[in-house]
Amino acid sequence: MATIKQALMQANTLQQVSESWKLDAELLLAEAIGQSREYLFTWPNKELTQSQFEKFDTYCGRRLTGEPIAYILGRQAFWDFELLVNPAVLIPRPETELLVETALELLDKPATAVVLDLGTGSGAIALALAANNRHWTVTAVDSSESALGVAADNAKLLQLSNIEFIQTSWCDGLPVAHFDLIAANPPYVEAGDKHLSEGSLPFEPIAALVARENGLADIRAIAEQSRHCLKKNSWLLIEHGFQQKQAVEKTLVDTGYANIECVKDLAKLDRLTKAQWLH
Ligand SMILES: C[S@@+](CC[C@H](N)C(=O)[O-])C[C@H]1O[C@@H](n2cnc3c(N)ncnc32)[C@H](O)[C@@H]1O
Repeated sequence: MATIKQALMQANTLQQVSESWKLDAELLLAEAIGQSREYLFTWPNKELTQSQFEKFDTYCGRRLTGEPIAYILGRQAFWDFELLVNPAVLIPRPETELLVETALELLDKPATAVVLDLGTGSGAIALALAANNRHWTVTAVDSSESALGVAADNAKLLQLSNIEFIQTSWCDGLPVAHFDLIAANPPYVEAGDKHLSEGSLPFEPIAALVARENGLADIRAIAEQSRHCLKKNSWLLIEHGFQQKQAVEKTLVDTGYANIECVKDLAKLDRLTKAQWLH
């Protein structure tokens, strides 16, 4: 049977689908043998068992179809923890940590903030906010029952009890003038966008990605509906496409928000917009 080093070399076929194929192979092999990546470098000449090799081979086969590593491993790093993920949820992106950071800056940790995450998916944003301040009350909403199941499992793993999950469409049925901050990373890709057939996107839920009206329908619905749920002087934070800054700003102006400001990510792309509800 192949050694660790030989198995990693044989995985060079992953070059066809991944620029980071060496890292991919290491992550998949570590998973197949139930060890850390460090173990692979410490014991390169250790022989794999038949079943370890077969497992690794199966994982590589899945990766060769383009399936993202996060779905094969069933987990993804976000903020300062690992989240369970499966194809019912979007794989949380590092850019979305900017939304969490901005929310934490805006609320400056008041002891008892009441926060809402619209379209929670794996629970990434809601869980990061709930974990960062255990005295905050966090509500996480999604229209997908299976996504909420994943988010609830993540809350259990992180032992967070200051979070509740509600299945609804955006703010439908949520309390009026109740929240200090609403965060949302909604679907914002235009139907037919060429990126939908690239990278991990073909494997991710279409309802998490695509929105009508050139990708703006859900952002518009959230801006409109959030007004009723926000307290006086509270904040709405929306992640959006880097080319949507102006359209999002117009929506927020038209729906009566103030102090509207776009925040750029590390790549200097317009990544999210914050707006205050003063009424
Ligand atoms: C882009 S994903 C964001 C997931 C997660 N918040 C993150 O940042 O990784 C958008 C999420 O919105 C949910 N969604 C789509 N339409 C919705 C609606 N009308 N009401 C509530 N959630 C919706 C999808 O199921 C999906 O989980």
